[in-house]
Amino acid sequence: MQNIRIIGVVGAGQMGRGIAQVAIQSGFDVIIFDAFQNALDAGVDFIKNQLNKGVEKSKWSAADADAALKRLKTANDMKTLRDCDLVIEAATENRALKFDIFKKLDEIVKPDALLASNTSSISITEIAAQTKRPHLVAGMHFMNPVPVMKLVEGIRGLETSDETFNTVAAAAEKMGKTFVRAQDYPGFAVNRILMPMINEAFYALYEGVASAKDIDTAMKLGTNQPMGPLELADFIGLDTCLAIMDVLHTGLSDTKYRPCPLLKQYVAAGRYGRKNKKGVFVYE
Ligand code: CAA
Repeated sequence: MQNIRIIGVVGAGQMGRGIAQVAIQSGFDVIIFDAFQNALDAGVDFIKNQLNKGVEKSKWSAADADAALKRLKTANDMKTLRDCDLVIEAATENRALKFDIFKKLDEIVKPDALLASNTSSISITEIAAQTKRPHLVAGMHFMNPVPVMKLVEGIRGLETSDETFNTVAAAAEKMGKTFVRAQDYPGFAVNRILMPMINEAFYALYEGVASAKDIDTAMKLGTNQPMGPLELADFIGLDTCLAIMDVLHTGLSDTKYRPCPLLKQYVAAGRYGRKNKKGVFVYE
């Protein structure tokens, strides 16, 4: 297994900043890259805030928070990632963008460096095929919010080597996460199961089975979920949920994955969920 010391994180958005925070708190040196300086600054401010909040809540000491912050460097030039042992890409969920990032990373990082993607739905095999090192590429699918959620879903592309998969598993475990192993089929394991449940909640609402609030209360209290499926859909983003349902529907060629017309309608109306304060529910 390779020794991972320096981790690069591509993207300082919601997922990238969470991954960087957890990695520095687990003793890794981290370089967080974003092409947009304002995104980078916002990401670092968020991490600092989260570390301070943790000190106030006595989750960790001020000294540990300071030491973690010292392990964080920022970059707005991707070439700064050249010495990383592992780069975790957490950019926007867009095939062309991710393919371009992997082509560039493959040129920049040292020959034995590992590349991982936090994609929730794009094929790891296809991402890996953009590089000349497909055996060194794997999926590391973190859940949102990263510091809270205990899972990293590992995805093995067709060419991912045992050594690569075991090394990213060990890195995830050093970050305090449980690593599950999934094969590279549409939706992997989490979204193959989660998204049809969310989609079915939309069908239940669409067909008038119960109100949105009652559907969520039923699932929260009846099946011990922290959020009902419709609130969770708002939390994830209705556009993201629809995009993943489309991947399942197309990739598995089965009508049981057809996205609910009501979910499509919300997205068409621009109701994306928590991120723009209006989804199934309205947020103040
Ligand atoms: N970053 C860091 N910490 C956060 C956080 C964030 N964004 N949001 C909440 N927390 C922490 C809080 O600080 C708090 O910590 P302490 O208990 O130590 O003080 C803890 O989480 C609980 O937070 P709250 O009391 O504010 O709120 P809550 O009890 O309602 O929990 C929640 C919020 C953790 C988000 C919870 O509702 C939950 O677990 N929801 C389900 C989340 C989920 O399923 N995520 C996976 C989505 S699927 C995905 O990500 C993959 C995909 O491909 C779509």
